[in-house]
Amino acid sequence: MVDADFLLTGIGQLCTMAPEGAGEGPLAGPFQGRVGAIDGAAVAAYRGRLVAVGKEEEVLARVRVLPRATVLHARGRLVTPGMVDSHTHLCFAGWRAEEFSLRVQGADYLEILQKGGGILQTVQATRRASEEELVVTLKERALQALRQGVTTIEVKSGYGLSWEAERKQLRAIRRVKEELRGRMDVVATFLGAHAVPPEYRGKGSEYARKVAEEMVPRVAAEGWADFVDVFCEKGVFSVDESRLILEAAAKEGLGRKIHADEVHPLGGTRLAAEVGAVSADHLVATTREDMALLREAGVVACLLPATSFFLMKEAHAPARTFIDEGVPVALATDMNPGTQPNPSLLATMTLGCLLYRMTPEEVLVAVTRNAAAALGFLQDRGSVEEGKKADLVIWDCPTYHHLPYRWGVNLAAVVIKEGQVVVDEG
Ligand code: NIG
Ligand code: FE
Repeated sequence: MVDADFLLTGIGQLCTMAPEGAGEGPLAGPFQGRVGAIDGAAVAAYRGRLVAVGKEEEVLARVRVLPRATVLHARGRLVTPGMVDSHTHLCFAGWRAEEFSLRVQGADYLEILQKGGGILQTVQATRRASEEELVVTLKERALQALRQGVTTIEVKSGYGLSWEAERKQLRAIRRVKEELRGRMDVVATFLGAHAVPPEYRGKGSEYARKVAEEMVPRVAAEGWADFVDVFCEKGVFSVDESRLILEAAAKEGLGRKIHADEVHPLGGTRLAAEVGAVSADHLVATTREDMALLREAGVVACLLPATSFFLMKEAHAPARTFIDEGVPVALATDMNPGTQPNPSLLATMTLGCLLYRMTPEEVLVAVTRNAAAALGFLQDRGSVEEGKKADLVIWDCPTYHHLPYRWGVNLAAVVIKEGQVVVDEG
């Protein structure tokens, strides 16, 4: 018998994301499509960690429910692990609605950036904003994601592009992380190399050196972030500049992420494998050869279908080929004020199905277990298994097929973080 201070019974379908034979890593190849479903299930937790998972009778026979435990009934509905959004730029000031209007009339995203707009417009607004304003808006956006079933969210800096302004963003992220502790986990990524700041126009390499030699060591020394990310793109940061920054991150013991091969195939995917990144993100233009390198290096492919959709691109990331090549695929929103302002990971799942032809099983794996792997968190979340965090969502539908299918609707009914109800829509 085990003690439980949390018990959830009456689960119509439980997606454990822990199918037979899956081992402990992310799910790749044929396993990308296995959600480990159990019908008629229950789960129990003690002090925020799962202690029993399985068929209801078995769970009830194994647990001793403590007085004052939280006891819930799912009323035959679907339960999954809390979702993980592993790539967002939620900490920003000011929207870019005019840019959207220009883009739908044919303006090009990278050309807008070259002219000092795009990311640089958000940099101006974010530099002007107070830390307080960033905290308020970031917290509201994070809570919006939580209400849609996201219990862990990554947030990047990258709209400051000077040490003071980047630190202001990182401080805002840290404050929101503290304020949401117990409701949602916030993970910070330092993206000082998101664009070349106006003061360094024409001197991108000099700025990249400053990021690598001055900013990354301070981020590590002062504990501002767990990851360092770079926008490796033509006209932004080259592969060599990106390498310098990511190697500095490795030297400081920080995790590596990279915006790679989104528009032009520069070689960012290969660099991700070379520097042992936890994930390589975007990957619209990645070749089969480079996919093999990712697989061998254990890098998760974090694909962002809502971004290529919102940029009206004809080409989308070749998700099916990644899966054929045995590379674990995660999906994330990439929410940001320019290329993707929609905070819904459910909408991203739908786009994963429609644009990538991923199945409902594959996209669910991509926003839970594989997304947790894209943040190096698999040991304690991403699946419903004993010992992991009791981060769960009760969905207002009977099976996982409904999640990507019922497009644009928030189906999250109850969100549970470490055994506590944090959102209750009934
Ligand atoms: O992931 N590609 C670079 N960065 C973001 C866009 C940021 C912005 O436009 O503000 C992205 O799409
Ligand atoms: Fe991004």
